[in-house]
Amino acid sequence: MKTLNTIKAIRKELHPLRMEKKRIALVPTMGNLHAGHISLVKEALNYADVVVSTIFVNPMQFGPNEDLDSYPRTLEADKQKLLDAGNHFLLTPSVEEIYPSGMDQTTVHVPGCTEYLCGEKRPGHFDGVTTVVTKLFNMIQPDVAVFGQKDYQQLTTIRKMVRDLCFPIEIIGLETCREADKLAMSSRNGYLDKEERNKAPALYQALEQIKLALLSGEKSHTTIIKNAQQSLESAGFSTDYLEIRDADTLECASTDSARLVVLGAAFLGKTRLIDNLALELNQK
Ligand code: PAJ
Repeated sequence: MKTLNTIKAIRKELHPLRMEKKRIALVPTMGNLHAGHISLVKEALNYADVVVSTIFVNPMQFGPNEDLDSYPRTLEADKQKLLDAGNHFLLTPSVEEIYPSGMDQTTVHVPGCTEYLCGEKRPGHFDGVTTVVTKLFNMIQPDVAVFGQKDYQQLTTIRKMVRDLCFPIEIIGLETCREADKLAMSSRNGYLDKEERNKAPALYQALEQIKLALLSGEKSHTTIIKNAQQSLESAGFSTDYLEIRDADTLECASTDSARLVVLGAAFLGKTRLIDNLALELNQK
C-alpha cells in the first residue's frame, strides 16, 4: 500500500492505471478506523481493481463548538488496518493541501434533504461534507465510491449531489457494522466512559421500539416517538431528534409511505451519537 499526502502525487499514481482501464474505487474517511470502515474497503475491492482510501479530518464539516480538535487521530494503526484489508492507496492530505485559500472557497450546497435532522442541528455540516467529497471526487476521479448507511442522511445527500451534478460515479451504500450489543460502531464511541458505554445501546433499542410499533400497525407517529423518547431518556440519553422519515427522500413519512427509516441522534454526556434503522411496511 502506498501512502501519499498530495493531490499531485495521487494523480501521478492513478493516471497510468486509468490509462490501463483499471476501475478505481474511493473510500473517504476521517480515520480512527474500525470494522465499519474496513467493511467499506473490502466491499470496494469487489467493485474495482484499485482502492483508494482517504483519511482527512475535514474542518469544514465541524461546527465551532464541535470536536474537531479532539477528534481521534490514529494514523499508524489505521494504516495497518488498511494494509491488512488489501487497500492499495491511502491519501492523507494536510488541511493546507485541501483548503489552500482557507475557508474562503467555493462550496457545494445540496438543498432539500440537508435542511432537517442533522442539517438543522449542525448548521453548515452537510455543506462541509459535500464540498470535501466533491474535491475528493475530482482528485481521484473514481468509478465507484463507497459510503456507510450509518450516516444515512449523508448518504442520501451524496446520492442527490451525484445525480444533480452528473458525477459519473456509482455510489454504494453499505449496512452499518455493530458491536455485539448492537451499538453502531463509531469513532465517537471512544469518547464514552464505561458507564456511558453500558447505556449506549439504548439508542438502537429506541429505534427498534419504533420499528416494532410501526410493524405492529400502530398509526400515530407522535405516540410512537413519544414512547421511544421516554425509553431513551430514562436510559440516560438527552434526545437531539428521533424521527420517522421516507427512506428514499428523507421527507416526512406520509401514512402511505411503505419504505421508512427511523433516525435518531442523542447525547450521552457530551458525546453525540447517531443511528438509524430502515423498514418496509407491507401495505394492503
Ligand atoms: P467517517 O465518520 O470517518 O466515516 C467514513 C465512512 O464510514 C462513511 O461513509 C460512514 O458512513 C462509514 N461508517 C462509519 N461508521 C460505520 C459503521 N458502523 N458501519 C459501516 N460504515 C460506517 O463520514 C465521514 O467520515 C465524513 O463525513 C466523510 C464522508 C469522510 C467526509 O469528510
